[in-house]
Amino acid sequence: MRTIRSLVAGRPVDGAPGGTFTISNPARLDDTIGEAHLGDASTMVAACRTAGEAQPGWASTPAPTRGRVVQLFGRLVEENFEALARSITREIGKPIRESRGEVQEVVDTCNFFLSEGRRLYGQTVPSEMPDKQLFTFRMPVGVAAIVTAGNFPVAVPSWYIVPALVCGNAVVWKPAEYTPATAEAFSQLLLHSGLPEGVFSMVLADGPSTFEGLERALDAGHVDKIGFTGSTEVGRRIGELAGRHLQTPCLELGGKNPLVVMPDADLDLAVEGALFSGFGTAGQRCTSLGTVIVHTDVHDDFLERFSKAVSQAAIGDPTADVLYGPMISARFCERFESWLGLLRPHHTVLGSTGTGRITASNPRQGFVGDPEAGLFFHPTIVDGLRADDELATTETFGPIVGIATFETFDEAIALANGPGYGLSSSIYTSDPLSVFRFRERISAGMVSVNNSTSGAEAHLPFGGNGRSGNGSRQSGVWVLDQFTRWQSVNWDYSGHLQKAQMDVAEVKASEYRLSDDRPDLPG
Ligand code: UN1
Repeated sequence: MRTIRSLVAGRPVDGAPGGTFTISNPARLDDTIGEAHLGDASTMVAACRTAGEAQPGWASTPAPTRGRVVQLFGRLVEENFEALARSITREIGKPIRESRGEVQEVVDTCNFFLSEGRRLYGQTVPSEMPDKQLFTFRMPVGVAAIVTAGNFPVAVPSWYIVPALVCGNAVVWKPAEYTPATAEAFSQLLLHSGLPEGVFSMVLADGPSTFEGLERALDAGHVDKIGFTGSTEVGRRIGELAGRHLQTPCLELGGKNPLVVMPDADLDLAVEGALFSGFGTAGQRCTSLGTVIVHTDVHDDFLERFSKAVSQAAIGDPTADVLYGPMISARFCERFESWLGLLRPHHTVLGSTGTGRITASNPRQGFVGDPEAGLFFHPTIVDGLRADDELATTETFGPIVGIATFETFDEAIALANGPGYGLSSSIYTSDPLSVFRFRERISAGMVSVNNSTSGAEAHLPFGGNGRSGNGSRQSGVWVLDQFTRWQSVNWDYSGHLQKAQMDVAEVKASEYRLSDDRPDLPG
């Protein structure tokens, strides 16, 4: 069986102090991908120490050269496009078309940041005194420890790693331990892009060991920035830990993303958007649709079309053309079953020929392939959701979508903002006024108009508010503020000490009053 190890300073780490972990294809459980040899807290600390040693050299490498490394990485990803996409589909069961989209997102990210090495602009700023000039420079933060989830095993990591490297930071990446093969492939491509030794390491470890490793590395001064994509619960703990070290982590957490359907919406378009955002990646995106909030006047019509579309959707083998494949890992199945336990008598369930796991005795009509071979779940639409239902406020990472109704716009906003998350959101309407009212009042960091809650482009700010994060933003130029700190410089070449605020030239206005008898003023 293939062994997959952590890569510290480009070299595989011997041993498995954190234990071993066999990974199998969630769509075909008899297809064993390999055995991950996990590191422990000490592996994490060692990788961060190594990164700290390499970082000053990397920071003093000219930024355009750092951008060139990113360019070469993007090219290597393109040259290995299909292999990387297939690795994602095999390891987490993402439909192959979506996996290709995810690899494209890495390429897009590289394309955006390769030239940022030629910008990384600072400013020249006028001084309040003569013969003095002010400047700002972007400085790398130092060592960035990046901890990511497994639902986007390459795109989301690239959102952190690529800009962090361009900005002159060293990176230690801790991918999800259930995507080691894809993580190893991604890391090898990066390590073959011309990076100096030690600037990038990848550590395979479980959650508790990673947390302990971060704690110890922070105490020892080996980590300067944490990036984390995952649950709100763990994000809170990371935020506390980083806060104790006076650091602000970049946190990208969960969501309960609303999709509002106004009475003037194009219902077929809304159904198409809800289908993809609710069930794409089997609902396991942080941007996945949580609740459709539909106006009472169009509720029945929308629900009829939506449940028909979900009932007829192709689900199954992710190498085929399906809406979604299996759960990304066995660990999410039980949790998903527990959310199905939140169904109440006032709810109506639609969308499939059963609920829960799809098996021979609990079949899904039209299933593509053999459901018993993997971890497949029925799509579930839950109509009749009320604002105070636990299902209306809980992030459900899986193929389940709630439907709630509203009469007034205020009610729609209250339902949309009620769960306290604020990642993505969507409104379907043909009225520009509703669009702008929604944009102003929704708590989400990302708003779609007549489009799905998921599928953000790789160069717009990505991030959330409330329980979805601490306000940090990834992607585009906005992420530069996560991986650099502003340094302000003042240079006085007057030859004497000019004191700010005190030695500033005084400007006086002369006494002047407009006279009352001016003919141009109203009497
Ligand atoms: C995530 O689920 O963590 O916007 C990221 C989207 C993708 C990224 C999702 N481009 O759905």
